[in-house]
Amino acid sequence: MTSDPPPNERTIALVGLMGVGKSTIGRRLAQALDMPFRDADQEIETAAGRTIPEIFAELGEAEFRAGERRVIGRLLQEPRHVLASGGGAFMDPQTRLLMKQKAITVWLKADLDVMVRRVGRKNTRPLLIGRDPREVLQELMDKRYPIYAEADITIVTDDRPANAAVDALLAALKLRLEPAAG
Ligand code: S3P
Repeated sequence: MTSDPPPNERTIALVGLMGVGKSTIGRRLAQALDMPFRDADQEIETAAGRTIPEIFAELGEAEFRAGERRVIGRLLQEPRHVLASGGGAFMDPQTRLLMKQKAITVWLKADLDVMVRRVGRKNTRPLLIGRDPREVLQELMDKRYPIYAEADITIVTDDRPANAAVDALLAALKLRLEPAAG
């Protein structure tokens, strides 16, 4: 058993609903901090040799969550990086516990309208297939927000350009990791 890393050595893990910009913001944050970037959904697809819609269709959501737990567990053993997690990852109690122990967790939060607009552009999300995205996202907000709120840091991204969210996040991390001297 290894002990939990101190805050300034931890991976920065982004959580939040689909369409909030975890991957875009994560990539830019990684660049700004000169750290590697990992996307949990992509790593799950690579590990499974299937796309996420295929995993859901062929193996079911429970298997997807088990794979997500394993992949995030492995990523959190890697050297410090920025990790974008899938929207449901933090809802799994074991995955959440791991993320809280090993990472600085950041909840990216945006208006429903903003997320609806953003998810409308892709058809790669099994939870949205055949459903009204606004309805699904509203349901997920009700269910998930109390849990996302357990993250260490919350950043409201809304309709601002990704760089503004990155700047806000850099400032919040600085406060957290370098408490003002004296
Ligand atoms: C999911 C979000 C997706 C992906 C999967 C399930 C969820 O990731 O992991 O479709 O449960 O919210 P993004 O949040 O990156 O879209």
